[in-house]
Amino acid sequence: MHEPGRSDLVSREPDPRAHVRWELDADRVMRVWFDAPEKSVNTLSAAAWGGLDAAVREIEAVRPTGVVFASAKPRSFIVGADLFELRSLTDEQLDEYLTRGQRILDQIAALPMPTVAAINGDALGGGLEVALACRFRVAADEPGSKLGLPETTLGLVPGWGGTIRLPRLVGLESALALMLPGKSIPPREAMGKGLVDRLVPRDELDAEAKRLALAPPAAHERGPDADPEPRRAVFATCRGEVRRRSGDHLPAPLRLIDIVETGCDQGFEAAAAAERRGLVELRRTAATQNMLRLFFLRTAAKKAAAAAAGDTPRPVRKAVVIGGGTMGAGIAAALAAAGVGVQVVEADERAAAAAATRLAGLAGKTAVAVATDWGAIVDADLVVEAVVENLVAKLDIFRRLDRSARPGAVLASNTSSLSIAQLAAAVRDPSRVIGLHFFNPVAKMPLVEVVRTPHAAADAVATGAAVATLAGKTPIVCSDAPGFIVNRVLFPYLRAALLMAEAGADVPAVDAAVRAWGMPMGPFTLIDEIGLDVTLSIFHSLERALGPRLAPAPLLAAAVEKGWLGRKVGRGFYDHPSEGRPVPNPEWAPVCTAGQAPVIDEQFIERRLIGPMADEAGRLLDEHVVDSVDAVDLATVLGIGFPAFRGGLATYAALR
Ligand code: NAI
Repeated sequence: MHEPGRSDLVSREPDPRAHVRWELDADRVMRVWFDAPEKSVNTLSAAAWGGLDAAVREIEAVRPTGVVFASAKPRSFIVGADLFELRSLTDEQLDEYLTRGQRILDQIAALPMPTVAAINGDALGGGLEVALACRFRVAADEPGSKLGLPETTLGLVPGWGGTIRLPRLVGLESALALMLPGKSIPPREAMGKGLVDRLVPRDELDAEAKRLALAPPAAHERGPDADPEPRRAVFATCRGEVRRRSGDHLPAPLRLIDIVETGCDQGFEAAAAAERRGLVELRRTAATQNMLRLFFLRTAAKKAAAAAAGDTPRPVRKAVVIGGGTMGAGIAAALAAAGVGVQVVEADERAAAAAATRLAGLAGKTAVAVATDWGAIVDADLVVEAVVENLVAKLDIFRRLDRSARPGAVLASNTSSLSIAQLAAAVRDPSRVIGLHFFNPVAKMPLVEVVRTPHAAADAVATGAAVATLAGKTPIVCSDAPGFIVNRVLFPYLRAALLMAEAGADVPAVDAAVRAWGMPMGPFTLIDEIGLDVTLSIFHSLERALGPRLAPAPLLAAAVEKGWLGRKVGRGFYDHPSEGRPVPNPEWAPVCTAGQAPVIDEQFIERRLIGPMADEAGRLLDEHVVDSVDAVDLATVLGIGFPAFRGGLATYAALR
């Protein structure tokens, strides 16, 4: 590999020790600390590589007894490449940047003394590759930490030797199972796979790392498998699996298999070159460009929401969630985990007991109190209403809140289909009422629609966006229009699917074709998850507000009538046995007016299912429910799982 010398990338950062510093202790153990200035986490920027390069030169000169690579950040090791920087590089610069990192990690791997990575939190992408270049890895035993090579989730591949070192350490199949989906795992699981050598409590991390550096056991790298035949079988299986799961849409996983194969067959140098070529070429593909753009939009969403709100948030120290059902419990758990003092208020003792059980399953270590009286409302800074979807019930809550909550408190509703303005009308000061629409299941779904009525105060909207961000979600500000963004575009699509079923289309075939197109699940599987009754009632409210293009297909009401409510009752479009996979509900066929079954190919899916969704997105933009194509793209990717490689709904539909 060639030595790039002092490139432009390096000269941007005059003092490498600003990012990486080192010190030799009395036992001649060198600690190399990653500590990106003014950042909460470490990334592998050009400056960080410059620092690491200097540290390695120092190690080679000083020859310590052992070396410990560690992070000075409180709960993360290194979270990966600096993608903002990576975005701005030309192909040549990217190749140079990768070559340099590869060379530095090769030097670390070749050091004659024991090297130990002290993993105190997330070690992702390039961060894990730094750890893989060390002879040993010791990790703090924290279930919330993540270790992995998630590059494929951005349409990329690892570029600093990870495709070679990970298989050698944990075995080929195990490495591919992690790298292909870009899966990250907690330290304990990593220990089980041999990715981590020692697991210790956080406060013993440094001591254990030092112990390993001074008295190293034999390292356990497996090395490449000598026999190529079983390897070929593994690669063939993986290629088939990737194609089955994502067709040929996602270029990164297939490329990654090629690179790993190159590493096994031709060795380190060839694989390193293949990694660099892979990254440069993948970065040019439309799929990767789309995935990277969505990553940047997501990173910028907090700022975009703050700008859309137009003011600074009010402080939120204490929140109350009214209703501890599916959504309320999830919201309360997310707030508690974020360090907000939170209490749940339920209707009666029985419901409170049920809510407490639900919360115990969700909230982990942070306990959330459940009460049946409204005492806690008095000094709450934020109230989130999450009671049943019923206007009368919700109006009653807002009238009571008007009397009980302190005047500065922000009052939010989690309603999916009711008008926030109508709820706000029950309050003397409607400027403090907003919508905070979380998605189900709250713990998993990354989006929150922050709903602004014409009367909402900018700082109330800003408070909603800030709280959503604090709870680990991506906030998107939108107007108080029926269905907000996500349900508004989702339901025309579901309607089209229902009409197809009514016309005799094969339900599992449509679901499979939609998955192959890139959605995480088909429309009928989704309706079974939401519940057919809930789907029907959202249709009714959207139809009332938006007219017949959102009328539910008659077949839906017929199914609800029969009690086929979806997964929760064991039968919907599919039968859901308590064990095993769902199977098609055999009684659908007679319900549908069997016509000529259509040919369900990609074109059919795009024209008949995605088309109505795209039309509705156009209306959203025309009506200024959201003001940017970016917001529609991000909301559909995060809220519906619209394929990121297609750019999000608005980009896919070329709504500019
Ligand atoms: P749920 O039926 O699971 O929970 C509602 C809870 O509110 C129950 O625990 C009930 O005891 C409680 N409750 C009812 N009246 C109350 C009162 N007067 N005071 C205090 N608590 C009271 O309903 P879920 O699914 O959690 O929905 C709640 C809200 O969230 C609804 O507005 C719904 O439209 C919305 N939503 C639901 C989603 C879902 O997928 N389930 C997704 C997004 C929003």
